[in-house]
Amino acid sequence: MSGTDCALLSPFKIRDTVFPNRVVLAPMMQCRAIDGHMSDWHLVHYGKFALGGFGTVMTEAVAVEPGGRISYGCPGLWSDDHIPMLRRIVDFVHSQGALAAIQLGHSGRKGSSHRPWEANYGPITPADALPGEGPWPLVGPVAKPVTEGSLAPHALTVEEIRAIVVKFGEAARRADEAGFDMIEIHGAHGYLIASFLTPLVNERTDEYGGDRTGRMRLALEVTREIRANWPAGKALFFRVSSEDGGGPGGWSVEDSVALARELHQAGVDVVDCSSGGLRSSAVLQNNARGLGFQVPYADQIRHDASLPTMAVGLILDGQQAEAILREDRADFIAIGRQAMYDPFWVHHAAQQLQTDPQFNQWNQSAGWWLQRRVGTLKLAGCRADGTRAEA
Ligand SMILES: Cc1cc2nc3c(=O)[nH]c(=O)nc-3n(C[C@H](O)[C@H](O)[C@H](O)COP(=O)(O)O)c2cc1C
Repeated sequence: MSGTDCALLSPFKIRDTVFPNRVVLAPMMQCRAIDGHMSDWHLVHYGKFALGGFGTVMTEAVAVEPGGRISYGCPGLWSDDHIPMLRRIVDFVHSQGALAAIQLGHSGRKGSSHRPWEANYGPITPADALPGEGPWPLVGPVAKPVTEGSLAPHALTVEEIRAIVVKFGEAARRADEAGFDMIEIHGAHGYLIASFLTPLVNERTDEYGGDRTGRMRLALEVTREIRANWPAGKALFFRVSSEDGGGPGGWSVEDSVALARELHQAGVDVVDCSSGGLRSSAVLQNNARGLGFQVPYADQIRHDASLPTMAVGLILDGQQAEAILREDRADFIAIGRQAMYDPFWVHHAAQQLQTDPQFNQWNQSAGWWLQRRVGTLKLAGCRADGTRAEA
């Protein structure tokens, strides 16, 4: 296959922004920020995916206010002081020809948690809090805790909701100043926006609750506020839990289709189709999940709501990703844990799809040498990727 025949490596234009290929680094929280600030650790972490050929490098969820973090290690964009480090990361990503995206979110009822490797990701309690990292008050649509026994959130007043909406807009303005090319609104996994969408949590009787229109109000207000503070030429994605995973009577894929139509009207360009996470982690479940188990959501929302979608979840290699695009089931592919395993995932996918036999897509410091190793490897009975030919 030549590079031009490969859907995965083909560009995609949204507004004034040209995505160099269809592969996006999925947002993955790192829990390594301090007071919301990213550091050189994040520069190296995100930078390696730009070197690895990802067309778009997306940050983890970045909180619009301190209480909107999931853990004390989550980054934020509630202050102009956060901008300079983000700009350094964006500049490096750009220097490698990739786009930089930021996921903006608010943890809502699922904030005040430990880092995953501390106390198994559970809620912080006074008894197990680290020094200076006590529990903080949670917020939600109603005073209903995530699970029985966890901290009950404060039910947000209408004024408080509007103040959070404004904070999303302020964060968008800062994201533009930092040079980001795309914002993704985190509307999934049971966090604040998702908790307003689902009837399993949102029992409000005012304009932010009730029927689906009321429950969608926060998502749409956040979208419009971001659009008002984000250049018209830049792309806006929205991550939805296509089904909330909370059981009967919950948010369904048909609800997601209806939401996607409204979001599109309000200025969202692409819906990123995840699922679950209402009561626990959307990822930490060992139930039977086939490869690409969320692709059917991206497929249905793309066709029924007539807008581009991104597929995510257990997409492991180039052939699988290429097939999803060729079958018109999604427009973008987000790679999460497989990118942790292999930050050079895109370059390796290109090898697998035989679109870059000469290593031209790699940075020259590596590609020049890998190209010249091919002949030597052949004589040694190995393929260009270093695997043994007989294996
Ligand atoms: C360590 C880790 C952190 C994550 N953090 C976020 C996050 O900040 N925002 C989000 O929307 N999803 C988050 N996710 C979910 C991923 O974006 C992705 O949807 C999920 O891992 C499934 O894709 P995968 O099978 O390619 O890993 C996280 C997943 C992991 C493994």
